[in-house]
Amino acid sequence: MRILETGSYQEMSVLAAGILGAQVLLKPNCVLGLATGSSPIGAYEELSKNCQNGLLDFSQVRTVNLDEYCGLAPENPQSYRYFMDQHLFSRINIRKENTHLPNGMAPDLEEESRRYEALIEGLGGVDLQLLGIGHNGHIGFNEPCSDFPRDVHQVQLTESTITANSRLFSRREDVPTTAITMGIGTILKAGKILLIAGEEKKEIIERSLFGKVTPQVPASVLQLHRDVTVITCKRS
Ligand code: GLP
Repeated sequence: MRILETGSYQEMSVLAAGILGAQVLLKPNCVLGLATGSSPIGAYEELSKNCQNGLLDFSQVRTVNLDEYCGLAPENPQSYRYFMDQHLFSRINIRKENTHLPNGMAPDLEEESRRYEALIEGLGGVDLQLLGIGHNGHIGFNEPCSDFPRDVHQVQLTESTITANSRLFSRREDVPTTAITMGIGTILKAGKILLIAGEEKKEIIERSLFGKVTPQVPASVLQLHRDVTVITCKRS
């Protein structure tokens, strides 16, 4: 595991975008696993700039996102599909049909979970997975629990996650209470993993990277993966 400490959010974003960009240059038709939240916004901004000035070409890149809320349509500004279109996909030359997220509006969410797991496998697996981390150690939406969930599945969000994410909604009651997420097994199958986290995640980062490997701290499982890079920043 490589741990890179940077002095600012901007520095972390440039470094993360450099790693993601290098993946695209090395393998133009790579599969990128992408994340939402405030942590990756700066990296997406850098990737967009690098595409607009001709340094990066996303025309063959495929993407799969970690998760999506249940019950939010793609046009809903709080949905992760909307977030990805706004912060990245509409700003780079990626083909829309090559960008994938779970469908949180699917009538049968178990069926949708199976479809999404199979889709990732059908793309040949994820080359590089970008992750953020929740204050309780969640990755994607894998909340602390008694066993590491293997495949894509539906989850009940914890109160602490609903509270943390309510900052992005006008009312707490509007935050969905369920989501579809890649499982821990799905995430661990990625060839490489890149985790980015701000100063406010210092404590959970330490517990995850140096504490006991336990499903109570989902990100602790990353200790078992052979190619993980963690970028932290001193100030947000
Ligand atoms: C959400 C997402 C996670 C993300 C986390 C942290 O819960 N499902 O994938 O890592 O938020 O977000 P932030 O980067 O805003 O702290």
